[in-house]
Parts: sequence; C-alpha cells; structure tokens
Amino acid sequence: MKLKEHIREWWDDAHHDYDSIPEHGVHSRAEKELWGDALTRSLGTAQRLKVLDMGTGTGFLALLLAEMGHDVTGADWSKSKLKEANEKIKSSDIPVKFVIEDAEDLSFEGGIFDAVVSRHLIWTLSDPATAFSEWARVVKPGGRVLTDIPGKHSHHSNHHFGEEIGRQLPFYNGSDPDAVVRMFLDAGLTNVSVQRFNELVLVSGERL
Ligand SMILES: C[S@@+](CC[C@H](N)C(=O)[O-])C[C@H]1O[C@@H](n2cnc3c(N)ncnc32)[C@H](O)[C@@H]1O
Repeated sequence: MKLKEHIREWWDDAHHDYDSIPEHGVHSRAEKELWGDALTRSLGTAQRLKVLDMGTGTGFLALLLAEMGHDVTGADWSKSKLKEANEKIKSSDIPVKFVIEDAEDLSFEGGIFDAVVSRHLIWTLSDPATAFSEWARVVKPGGRVLTDIPGKHSHHSNHHFGEEIGRQLPFYNGSDPDAVVRMFLDAGLTNVSVQRFNELVLVSGERL
C-alpha cells in the first residue's frame, strides 16, 4: 500500500477514540485557554476572519475559532474524524463547515482565506513542504499561515505508524522550529516567526 494511503486509512479507522487520548483531545480548560490566547495574539481580534483549520480532526481548533467569531472551514482527509466533528456541532449553533481535503493537495482556489491554521498535523505529513506551499497559495495577500511544532521524540518507536513509516515522515519524531521556518520561507511566506506560549510553540508566516 502506498505511504499516504496507509496513513490516511490509519486516521480514518473509526475505532480510534481520538478525543479520549490525552495527547490528542483537549481535556483541560488551561489548554483551551492557551490556544485561545495564542490564536488571539497571532490573528488579532479586530475582524471576523475566514479561517481554514487544516487537519481539523474532530474539530477542536475549528470550534474554538468559531466561538471567537471567525468564519471557519475545518478540513481533513478522514471521513470518520469529520463525522465526529459534525456530531459536535449538531448540538450547538456554531456554524462551522467541515470538508474532505488533502493538506498537500487542496482543491480550493488561491487567495480565499485570511488564515490557515493547524494543530498536531505536521508530524503526520509525508510532504510538509508541499503542504506549506498549498497553505500559502490559498491565503490572501497579507494572510497568515500558522502551525504548532511537534515536540522532539514525541512519536518514537512504535507510536502510531511505527518506525518504518515514521522514518519517511520529516517531522514524525518532532521538529526543530528552524526547519519549519525554512520550509515556510521556501513556500514563499514572509515575516516568518516562532512564538512560544508556555509549552506551545507556533511558527507563523504571512503571504506577500
Ligand atoms: C493528530 S490529529 C489532529 C487533529 C486536530 N487538529 C486536533 O488538534 O485535535 C491529525 C489529523 O490530521 C489529519 N491528516 C493527516 N494527514 C492529512 C492530510 N494529508 N490531509 C488532511 N488531513 C490529514 C488526520 O486525519 C487527523 O484527523
């Protein structure tokens, strides 16, 4: 089976109870507040933005951004994760649109979002450089791309896909923020910076 298909099927396995896994789901008010604070500082509060949450999973960031008043699209390539995300918004009146997309090959036309954000995604990408180029393509000039950085040695050994597949994923075993900064610059982003919010490390850049 091809690498990407293997990874997609792994994520799509509806038997993973994603939100119940401590490192994945957000269980504490403190973590939610940390992300809320980081997003507010990175995106500002002045206007309602059109935001793409890439690799939205069960929708944590998408819902948080919508609660903050933004117009949010959550995108993921796993139908089962999006089903869970849609279940969450059924019981609320928060308007988030969830769509199937591959982070490395988006179907959106260029320059339509004010920001693309992602949480806990880049470690599982086989080609993060292409993903960043795609994210840079779909933001408007002046728009922002933002991702968190996986901690070093976070997915070693047999975690998730195992070592053989892990070796083929550039950030599987964590990332040095500088490596992500270089890829953001190569993707044509400017004003690229690393921001630290306690244990949360974000890289963000702006489209010219
Ligand atoms: C660790 S989860 C993070 C989910 C969510 N962002 C969160 O913070 O809870 C990674 C998610 O990325 C998705 N994903 C991985 N590779 C992807 C790709 N190439 N395109 C779209 N989604 C992808 C998976 O299906 C999964 O839902």
